[in-house]
Amino acid sequence: MNILVTGGAGFIGSNFIRQLLRNHPDDRIVNFDLLTYAGHLSNLADISPQANYVFVKGDIANRQAAEAVIYDNQIDVVVNFAAESHVDRSILDAAPFIHSNFLGVKTLLEAVRKYRLKKFIQISTDEVYGPTTSRFPADENARLNPSSPYAASKAAADLLALSYFKTFGVPLCITRSANNYGRYQFPEKLIPLMVTNTLRGRTLPIYGNGQNSRDWLNVDDNCRAIELVMENGRPGEIYNVAAHQYRTNLQVVNRIKKQLAAWQPQIKFVADRPANDTGYAINDTKIRRQLGWQPEFDFETGIGDTIDWYVIHPEWWRPLLKNVKNR
Ligand SMILES: NC(=O)c1ccc[n+]([C@@H]2O[C@H](COP(=O)([O-])OP(=O)(O)OC[C@H]3O[C@@H](n4cnc5c(N)ncnc54)[C@H](O)[C@@H]3O)[C@@H](O)[C@H]2O)c1
Repeated sequence: MNILVTGGAGFIGSNFIRQLLRNHPDDRIVNFDLLTYAGHLSNLADISPQANYVFVKGDIANRQAAEAVIYDNQIDVVVNFAAESHVDRSILDAAPFIHSNFLGVKTLLEAVRKYRLKKFIQISTDEVYGPTTSRFPADENARLNPSSPYAASKAAADLLALSYFKTFGVPLCITRSANNYGRYQFPEKLIPLMVTNTLRGRTLPIYGNGQNSRDWLNVDDNCRAIELVMENGRPGEIYNVAAHQYRTNLQVVNRIKKQLAAWQPQIKFVADRPANDTGYAINDTKIRRQLGWQPEFDFETGIGDTIDWYVIHPEWWRPLLKNVKNR
């Protein structure tokens, strides 16, 4: 198979490519990425020389470029990670989110339809359901109730993708995962931001009272789920991917403080993000039952290893700090 991974120079996409090259040695992987502020080939520095991997720079919303990369590489399957992914930035300016997260998906769907590809996987998020609690977790049929322009752009793309399945029979699946954590996450996101601030002697800014809760999914667990959906997911289906490891932001930051106590980190509470969802919780029974997936990492082990990774890899994150906006 020839697999197009869009957004493969970002956090989850780069971890997915690394996993694919391990698990699919006979397949050819094409990484198509615009290299925005969040996309870095240094995320893949260790794998670049491989013969069955190629990088092509381009915009998923550019029809000519998207069609060319699919046609030239005789692509069979597209896994779309390409997106603007930071909620705070979507509040400052929604335009790049509409461009990449919505128009980009529309362009890819058209190309997948035109060249009759075998499968399209749209990587979405639990944020499309809006605030939910672990007592009443959202299943795949729950109503979409996004709060941020980011989540709204993802929900819109999901609906468009489903319409392409219903109207044109484009064989596609959608995954909606919880918050990912792990190595190579851009240092504007909660965990790498707090670790890198600590290591630089800066305060740790927490929104509001820090009681907003997220479900923390190890990126490797999510990548395994996506690979299973790529291989065995039923066309037209949505798959939630959860970890059931709920932590408030304050708990996460205190866990980081504990591990990095030698740096004497200090928390600073700052004004809350507008429309900050109180919590997310999703029901992932479907992927467990249909595809036999389950997470392997518990948060305690995963977060410990992740913090250590950022501590020993300042050469990866230091050059990226110029694009991190201060809270
Ligand atoms: N990180 C999470 O916790 C999380 C959780 C659920 C879902 N998701 C979804 O997973 C996907 C990947 O998230 P991430 O955290 O790896 O994001 P990221 O910001 O780290 O990476 C996004 C990548 O997409 C590329 N990109 C952006 N616009 C593009 C365009 N128009 N054309 C080509 N490439 C473009 C960027 O250069 C970057 O490499 C996103 O769709 C996001 O919505 C993320």
